[in-house]
Parts: sequence; structure tokens; C-alpha cells
Amino acid sequence: MKILVTGGAGYIGSHTCVQLLENGMDVVVIDNLSNSSEESLKRVQEITGRSLEFHKIDLLERAWLDALFRDHQFDAVIHFAGLKAVGESVQIPLKYYRNNITGTINLCEAMANHDVKTIVFSSSATVYGEPEQVPITEEFPTSAYNPYGRTKLFIEEILKDLYVSDKRWNIVLLRYFNPVGAHKSGKIGEDPKGIPNNLMPFISQVAVGKLKELSVFGNDYPTSDGTGVRDYIHVVDLANGHVKALEKLVGKTGVHTYNLGTGRGYSVLEIIKAFEKASGRKINYNITDRRPGDIAECYADSDKAHRELNWKTERGIDEMCTDTWHWQSMHPKGYE
Ligand code: NAD
Ligand code: UFG
Repeated sequence: MKILVTGGAGYIGSHTCVQLLENGMDVVVIDNLSNSSEESLKRVQEITGRSLEFHKIDLLERAWLDALFRDHQFDAVIHFAGLKAVGESVQIPLKYYRNNITGTINLCEAMANHDVKTIVFSSSATVYGEPEQVPITEEFPTSAYNPYGRTKLFIEEILKDLYVSDKRWNIVLLRYFNPVGAHKSGKIGEDPKGIPNNLMPFISQVAVGKLKELSVFGNDYPTSDGTGVRDYIHVVDLANGHVKALEKLVGKTGVHTYNLGTGRGYSVLEIIKAFEKASGRKINYNITDRRPGDIAECYADSDKAHRELNWKTERGIDEMCTDTWHWQSMHPKGYE
């Protein structure tokens, strides 16, 4: 199978390229490198001993997309490309709407014009808004509280409309919970620009001495220790979910929605403890106010992906922390 991976130089995309190549698929990556570096793709090729094709293309450039589809016959597209910082999306919503939504429309138009009708889209647990209970199944109501979340929700709706209009489309919506960790080799990993927004990269930068201390956003939530609970999933397990989705669903039409999580929640304090154990470093932290917009608890019911895709996670929290630390300690400055 020949797969087009948009945003393939990024964190989840690069790990997915490794799994695709190791499963014998041919990979073409497009990325505008706005939040990544081409170095990640060099390392993907080092890890796998296979080559992939890279084009620096922005999804907002329709003409380049058409040329790409003219030159290649793709079996499917995995669509990671997008902006993802929640806080920034509140500050510059139009940039998020243009990049994520217009980018997806351009991609789908190019796909339709060249009769490529299988797309796997990176959605997010953020589409469940503030869930009334946990674990969260795919049937839970959806909502969004910030422009980033709305782009995910709108894109899901746009893709569903596309299927209604033309039943030959095959749409796979993968709702990721909290991806963390890195490839075992330590050659690729998460490399956020500036100060990280997310918990795991923040902790690992405290451990490596780049940041002084972690702010724990609130300890008065109705959870076991008062701190926020999330479903952290190893990025390699997540990447494997994409391979399984392609294996099971290419050739089948419809709209298929799956949660990709472990089904187990960990609190912020539990993550700190696990990271201290994995790294042998002390994580200095300070309890501060809640972060606006945060929910207390969020974890997945991923039985549907298990049943229908034959996918399950294999890596637990200790491995997530060990692999994050391996990458961070080998590359304190990321890909720089
Ligand atoms: P990332 O920023 O590392 O990767 C996204 C890639 O897309 C980057 O390499 C960036 O340069 C590229 N890109 C952005 N806009 C583009 C455009 N217009 N044209 C071409 N390339 C463009 O992010 P990630 O963590 O790997 O996330 C991948 C996808 O998964 C995103 O859609 C994100 O919203 C989604 N997601 C991420 C998380 C998470 O916590 N990391 C959770 C749920 C969903
Ligand atoms: N947290 C801290 N301190 C920090 C960062 C986070 O205490 O410096 C806490 C948060 O309050 C939360 C937990 O750690 O309780 C996890 O926070 P993250 O920012 O790592 O992740 P979120 O669950 O808030 O959101 C992430 C992505 C969203 C995505 C969602 C579900 O940022 O884009 O996971 O996939 F939608």
C-alpha cells in the first residue's frame, strides 16, 4: 500500500511513519515544517532502514497538492497536519480555522479529484468536551470549548458530510487521548517549540534541567488525589492504531470512529512519581490554580478499536516515562 502522510514530520506522524515502513507500506510525507524539522524523517529512515519520500508542501497550497496527487497513486491518506496548541488557538482563532479546516478541505478536494477516497483523520478526545462520566465511549455527545477543539469537531462533521454526498468515501476518525513517550531507539520523540503546554514534555524538561519546576494545575478536583486524571497512551501504540486501521478498513466504505486510549487514567501526581522512578531525577513541583478550561477526569473506553481493529495498547506508564526520558536525556535540545 502507498500512503500519503500529511504532517508526517511531527511527533505522532514520525512515529507512525516508522510503523508504516516496518509493516511494508510505502510512505510519502508532506509537511510545511511549521512545527517540526526534516531531521525527524532522516531518523525515521535510520530506524527502519527504509526510505520515504518527503515534500515540503503546505496544505494551503492547492496547486502543489494537485501536482502531488498527479504523480502518485495513493491507497490512503493519513491526515495529521494541523496546528494543535489550545491556548494559542484562543489567541489566533482565524489562523487555526484557516490552517486546519481550509487545509483539510484542500486535501479532500485534491483527493476527490484524483479518486483517492480513504482518509484517516487525527481527531482528539477534546471532542467530548466535559464528559458526564468516564470511561468515554464513541457514542458520547460531542462539544468543543476552544477554537482548536472546534476545528477537530468541524472537520469530523465535514468528513461525515463528504460520506453522505458520496458513499465511496472511507472515513476513519481516530480520537486520540493523551499521546506521550517516544520510540525505543531514542532517535525520535516529542520536540515542542518554546515552553511545553502539555504535562509530559514539561516534566521531562524539568528532569533534564531545562525548566525549574512544574506547576500542577489544581489539587481540588474530585479525583483520587485532587489532581487531573488523563488517559496517557504510548505514541508507538497510537501509531500502531493507524496501521491496524489501514489493514482493516482500506477498501471498506463508511465513517468509522474509534477512541485510541488505554482505558486507564493517571493523575498528575501519579505521573510525576512514575517519571521520577523512570529517570532517577527529582521533579520539583508547585501546586497552583486550576488551568482554565481543564476537566477533572478523562479516559477512554477503547473496546471498539480492540474488537473491530484488533488493536490494543501494549505499553504501560513505566515504559511511557522511560522512553520519554531516554529521548529527552539523549536530546536535551530536541532535534536542534
Ligand atoms: P505536531 O505539531 O508534532 O505535528 C503536526 C505536523 O503538521 C507538524 O509537523 C506541522 O509542521 C505540520 N503542519 C501543520 N500545518 C500544516 C499545513 N498547513 N501544511 C502542512 N503541514 C502542516 O503535532 P502532533 O502531536 O504530531 O499531532 C498530530 C495530529 O494529531 C494533529 O492534528 C493534532 O491536532 C492531533 N492530536 C494531537 C494530540 C497530542 O496531544 N499530541 C492529541 C489529539 C490529537
Ligand atoms: N498539567 C499540569 N501542569 C502542566 C501541564 C498540564 O498540571 O504544566 C495537567 C493538566 O491540568 C491536566 C493534565 O496535566 O490535568 C494533562 O494536561 P495536558 O496539557 O498534557 O493534556 P490535556 O488533557 O489538557 O490536553 C491534551 C491536548 C489536547 C487534546 C487532549 C486530548 O493538549 O489538545 O489532550 O487528546 F485534545
